[in-house]
Amino acid sequence: MKLTQRPRRNRRTEAVRQMVAETDLRASQLVLPLFLVEGTGQKQEIASMPGIFRLSPDLILEEVAKAVSLGVHSFDLFPALPESLKDTYGKESLNPNGLMPTTLKKIRDKFPDVTLITDVALDPYSSDGHDGVVKNGVILNDETVEILAKMSVLHAKSGADIVSPSDMMDGRVGAIREALDSEGLIDTGILSYSVKYASSFYGPFREALDSAPKFGDKKTYQMDFRNTREALREIDLDIEEGADIVMVKPALSYLDVIAKVKAHTNIPVAAYNVSGEYGLIKLGAKHGMIDETRAMVETLYSMRRAGADIIFTYFALPMAEWLRKNT
Ligand code: PBG
Repeated sequence: MKLTQRPRRNRRTEAVRQMVAETDLRASQLVLPLFLVEGTGQKQEIASMPGIFRLSPDLILEEVAKAVSLGVHSFDLFPALPESLKDTYGKESLNPNGLMPTTLKKIRDKFPDVTLITDVALDPYSSDGHDGVVKNGVILNDETVEILAKMSVLHAKSGADIVSPSDMMDGRVGAIREALDSEGLIDTGILSYSVKYASSFYGPFREALDSAPKFGDKKTYQMDFRNTREALREIDLDIEEGADIVMVKPALSYLDVIAKVKAHTNIPVAAYNVSGEYGLIKLGAKHGMIDETRAMVETLYSMRRAGADIIFTYFALPMAEWLRKNT
């Protein structure tokens, strides 16, 4: 054949492929979610998330040290609470001696330089398993926002660098910004789960926190997976209200949304590689269907390629190890 253009020339050797690669990923762009549980020496594996554990504060400190040694400096904290501490209003979320604030302080004391992000929502504390206060089967917006604002102040005072509302109530970013500012917490950032879809891929996470909704689903607050223009509306509102970083969640079924959000805004865009996306790769690999490492690398790079600046992922440590060896 007489071909002028032979794209394969740029794929011929590993060195050439490295030279022309368009997408980079650094360990510092990864955020490791951590599941906290009360006690000492507690390490409880989550069945649907092999390799991920609920850890008591002493072991959380070890996990953070391990992550830091691999170049992962950012963490997202979720508390797993016993049913006895849950109620309609998620009162435990405002307990200054609760698991979240006390663990935050411990990590902050030992690791002054890491970035601590806290999830702000009612579901770990709610006896209804919803992200807000429930009354007569309805998730109340404004009452919930009030609690979220107080929770954010508590997290910030306990050492959080960034609070991260994951509830999808209307107006919460503005209310949180105002509450933080009125306490002089002007340097605490807000990473908003601006575009969070009502997704089937959160299953393993809900097992981790035992936080599945006791009735109904989350479709009156989380987004419909058929919509993108609505995503941009949510992004615009959150930025107007003071968000520093916006997030799209889940990641893999929403790479198109990540790309559109990235083109739409000039603040950093995060993607959440959620529990179901993690669990499917782990279990698929266990059954010999795919190679775990290659699937991990390919999917995380796909999120970067789509436009994510930051990736929340349960693969943060193995990915950081891979990056050490391969880049
Ligand atoms: C709830 C919350 C969820 C996740 C993060 N925060 C679950 C949900 O909305 O039901 C999911 C994370 C994951 O699946 O990895 N506020």
